[in-house]
Amino acid sequence: MNPTAYVITVAYGAVCFVAVIGLLVIWRSTHSERPRERDTADTDRLVHGEKAWFAIAVAALGVLLLATLPFIPYGDNAAAVGQQTVAVDGAQFAWTIAPRQVQAEVPVRFTVTAADVNHGFAVYNDDNVMLFQIQAIPGHTSNIVYTFKEPGRYQVVCLEFCGLKHHEMLTTLTVDPPA
Ligand code: CUA
Repeated sequence: MNPTAYVITVAYGAVCFVAVIGLLVIWRSTHSERPRERDTADTDRLVHGEKAWFAIAVAALGVLLLATLPFIPYGDNAAAVGQQTVAVDGAQFAWTIAPRQVQAEVPVRFTVTAADVNHGFAVYNDDNVMLFQIQAIPGHTSNIVYTFKEPGRYQVVCLEFCGLKHHEMLTTLTVDPPA
């Protein structure tokens, strides 16, 4: 797990923990034995407590949402000046990729679509580690921006079962050293 994903997971875990504790506190106060004559006062206190916990949870989730949005690795957020653009078109059973050669250390925007059925555009490095993947959908262009750090040959694999020769949808992408 990369450090950013780790931080996000821990943060969301913390929010869930606080929410569960809050619910437990509310549950405990609703279910504890109390003399009947104090019912009205307790209800007011509980309503107040529930509202406070709700506000805290909403505020915490809102802050987390805003704080973590820039780290989402998809969409337009990673766009950069001087980026390279690669058009990807998946069709049974081959990839059309133009250009097939990009530069390391410069963001590459992949505009990914499909001609017939859904395909899964995935790029793997030499160690068979998947760097990213995105759905190739007919009639829709998906965008993903990725910056290759190392020059070399990268494997392109289809990750969506798309027919009898799905396993043949393999090709390569060449990453040149930075200029
Ligand atoms: Cu295309 Cu599987």
